[in-house]
Amino acid sequence: MKYDFDKVLDRNGTESLKWVYPRKVLKVEDAIPMWVADMDFEAPPAVVEAIRRRAAHGIYGYPLVPPSFWQAAIDWLKRRHGWEVTKDWMAMTPGIVAALNYCVRAFTKPGDGVIIQTPVYFPFFHAVENNGRRVVRNPLRFDGCRYTMDFEDLERKIDGPGQMLILCSPHNPVGRVWTRDELETLGLIAVARDLLVISDEIHADLIYAGHRHHVLASLSPGLADRTVTCIAPSKTFNIPGLSTAAVVSSNSGLLKKFEDEAERAGFELGQVFGIVGFEAAYAHGEDWLDELLPYLEANVDFMEKFLEERVPGVRFIRPEGTYLALLDCRGLGLEPAALNDFFLKKARVYFSDGTMFGSELEGFVRINFGCPRALLLEALERIERAVKAIGK
Ligand SMILES: Cc1ncc(COP(=O)(O)O)c(C=O)c1O
Repeated sequence: MKYDFDKVLDRNGTESLKWVYPRKVLKVEDAIPMWVADMDFEAPPAVVEAIRRRAAHGIYGYPLVPPSFWQAAIDWLKRRHGWEVTKDWMAMTPGIVAALNYCVRAFTKPGDGVIIQTPVYFPFFHAVENNGRRVVRNPLRFDGCRYTMDFEDLERKIDGPGQMLILCSPHNPVGRVWTRDELETLGLIAVARDLLVISDEIHADLIYAGHRHHVLASLSPGLADRTVTCIAPSKTFNIPGLSTAAVVSSNSGLLKKFEDEAERAGFELGQVFGIVGFEAAYAHGEDWLDELLPYLEANVDFMEKFLEERVPGVRFIRPEGTYLALLDCRGLGLEPAALNDFFLKKARVYFSDGTMFGSELEGFVRINFGCPRALLLEALERIERAVKAIGK
């Protein structure tokens, strides 16, 4: 192994949201944070080195985006996802959450219904509601182990032509990597009913054995024409604080509307270190990712076995991708509203409460297992002790 993912790094004193919030704001000083989606691993050395080199210059004026920035993303999408795109299909954004907000404002009107597949990453709700649009829920189906899309419900929920659907693919927090069949079915509906799809594919590179990510827009020309795809190296290479991502659409009309909206929001120039980090990650981070993926998957196996054998009241929903997973804690018999507090105060482990992603997740928490195995073990042992103490 070239990279040491077992190395435990001290993030105290780095103003990390993940670490500061439960420890300093919620005042559980030794809490293990397993909530917001960044990992406790150093970024690929090529990224650190590129930023160090740029930082050493000492002048941090307004940047231009070099052609090599776009080329790194173009090559990545072709190599890893078999998707051929060109530079004029792409626009930079300070983040995917920003992009979702721009899309809502660019492509819908106040009062319009925007479809999301709940439970889902909570900024999807905010992007719709904070801009005066209505959330239209197309809830996922859950059979106790696995989530699937409900296409009949989706067809019923479509108001009319041109409506927007925000897709999460792979899906946070349910951990599904949508199959080609599922995406093709969704695609047929989108084309037949004239849906506009904003496809948030930020987790596209974090896929486990036996699964494959399919870029929605690559499935048919008709679908490409009605899709804006959101991509980023931020989850893949653990650089979300660099605030640099991109959207891709072969429909020049959609892309122009997106760019106009971003400009109205005041975003034009990027961020010096974000531009450098984005390019270095896509151009030189691949072998790091190829070692990270089996490490994360071993964390999945480890957690699944530990919980099954030692904490039977908590059911692990095995993810097919992402470093996030749901724990179904309904078997603990706790009030849903008290669940996350129980884990924080009694186990001293901080998760994301399931209800943040929709009322469907009452009694669930979301765990972020993107951390060294030793930290994961410590967290699981704390959970085991706290759960045993309530007789479960
Ligand atoms: C589905 C999804 N979209 C977007 C984001 C955040 O993107 P950004 O930091 O680029 O705004 C996350 C972070 O967890 C996510 O899970």
